[in-house]
Amino acid sequence: MKILVNHIAQLVNTRTRSKVLRGNELAELPMINNAWLTIENGCITGYGSMSEPVPGGRDWTIIDAGGATVLPAWCDSHTHLVFAASREEEFVDKINGLSYAAIAAKGGGILNSARKLATMSEDALYDAAWNRLQSLMRLGTGAIEIKSGYGLDTNNELKMLRVIRRLKATAPIPVKASFLGAHTYPLAYKDDHEGYIRLILNEMLPAIAREGLADYIDVFCEEGFFSVEETETICRAGMQYGLKPKIHANQLHASGGAELGVELGAVSVDHLESMNASAIDALSGADTIGTLLPTAAFFLRMPFQPARELINANAAIALASDFNPGSSPSGNMNFVVSLSCIQMKLLPAEAINAATINGAYAMELGDTVGSITVGKKANLIFTQPIPSVNYLPYAFGTNLIHKVMINGAFI
Ligand code: NIG
Ligand code: FE
Repeated sequence: MKILVNHIAQLVNTRTRSKVLRGNELAELPMINNAWLTIENGCITGYGSMSEPVPGGRDWTIIDAGGATVLPAWCDSHTHLVFAASREEEFVDKINGLSYAAIAAKGGGILNSARKLATMSEDALYDAAWNRLQSLMRLGTGAIEIKSGYGLDTNNELKMLRVIRRLKATAPIPVKASFLGAHTYPLAYKDDHEGYIRLILNEMLPAIAREGLADYIDVFCEEGFFSVEETETICRAGMQYGLKPKIHANQLHASGGAELGVELGAVSVDHLESMNASAIDALSGADTIGTLLPTAAFFLRMPFQPARELINANAAIALASDFNPGSSPSGNMNFVVSLSCIQMKLLPAEAINAATINGAYAMELGDTVGSITVGKKANLIFTQPIPSVNYLPYAFGTNLIHKVMINGAFI
C-alpha cells in the first residue's frame, strides 16, 4: 500500500544521510515547511515540499496531515519497563527526608522491586509491561530499550528477559533487551559480592546466551553497588557472549564508570548526573554515547546532567526516560525533552535530536528509526497544530500529540 501524507506544516528531522550527532551538530535540526511524505510497506519512501511536484496515483491512500507538525517518534534508549509494582511509599519516604541510598539500605529500592517481582508470574509481568508500552506509544515512543535487573537470581532474571523477548515479538516497535543482573546485590549475597558476581558469570550469562535473551550487558556502577573493577569484570564477561556494554554510570558519584564505559567501547554510558573533568574528557569525541536521564535527576532532586559541557566537549548525547518505579516513574519522553531544555539548557533542536536520532544510535537502531530518512520506519508523531517546533518543549505538561503512526499505520 502506498501512502501520501500531505499538508504537513513542518516535517522535522529530515536527513538524507543518517549518523550519530555530536557537539555543534546537535543544534542543527533540518526541516521542511509545508511538506509531503510518502510511505510504503511501513517505511519512508520520500518527502519534499508541497510547492514541488507531489507524488501520487489512483491507488494511493492520501492522509491530510491538516497542518500537523510531523517528527520521528521518540527513541527511548534506557528503560526498566518490566516491573511488578509501583513504589509510591518510597516517594513519601523521600519527601519525609530519606535519601535514595538510605531507602536502599533499609531494604527498599531495587530490593523492594525484586521481592515483588519474584512473586509475579511471567504472564502477569508481560501484561503489565504490555499496557505500559501501549501508553508510551500513545505518548510518541517509537523504539525502546528495556532492562532486566529486578530478578537478581537466575530464574527471575531469565523471567524478566523472557518477558522482554515476548514484547519484542509482539510489539510493533523495535525493542532492545539489556541484562542488568548487576543492578544490586541480592540479600542472600549481601556479604558475598564475589559469590554473586560468580553467579552472574557462571550461571546467568551462559543461560541468557543459550536462549539469546539479551542484546546488551548493563551494570549499576556506583558506590555501594558495583565498583569500577567489578563492572569491568561483568562487562567483559558479557562481551565474551557478544553483549556490548550499556552501563549505569556517574549517577550518584563520579566513580569512574563513564571512563570505563568509553574504554570498553560501550554503546552508551547512562545517567551522568555526577560528572567531573575526567569523565567529560572521556566522552569528548568518543563513539560511546552519553545518555542523559533528566527525569531521574528531577525525581531524586539531584543536580541535572551537565549537558552544555558535554556538547561543548564534542560528546554525542542522547536523552532517555529511565522509566522505573524507583527513580523515574514516568516514561513520557515529551516531558524528558521539555525538562532538558528547561533545566539543562538544551536548545529545542538539540533535545529533539538527542531524543530521536541519537536515541536510535544508543540502541544501534540508527539505520532503522530516529529521523525522516528514506528507508527508515514510518514511526512518526503527528502534533496538534503548533506555532513552531520550539513550542513542543516550551508548553511542558501539555499533551500536544494528535496521533502516532507506527510502521505507517496510526495506532
Ligand atoms: O536507573 N540507578 C539504578 N537503577 C535505576 C533505579 C532502579 C530503582 O530504583 O528501581 C535507575 O535510576
Ligand atoms: Fe536506569
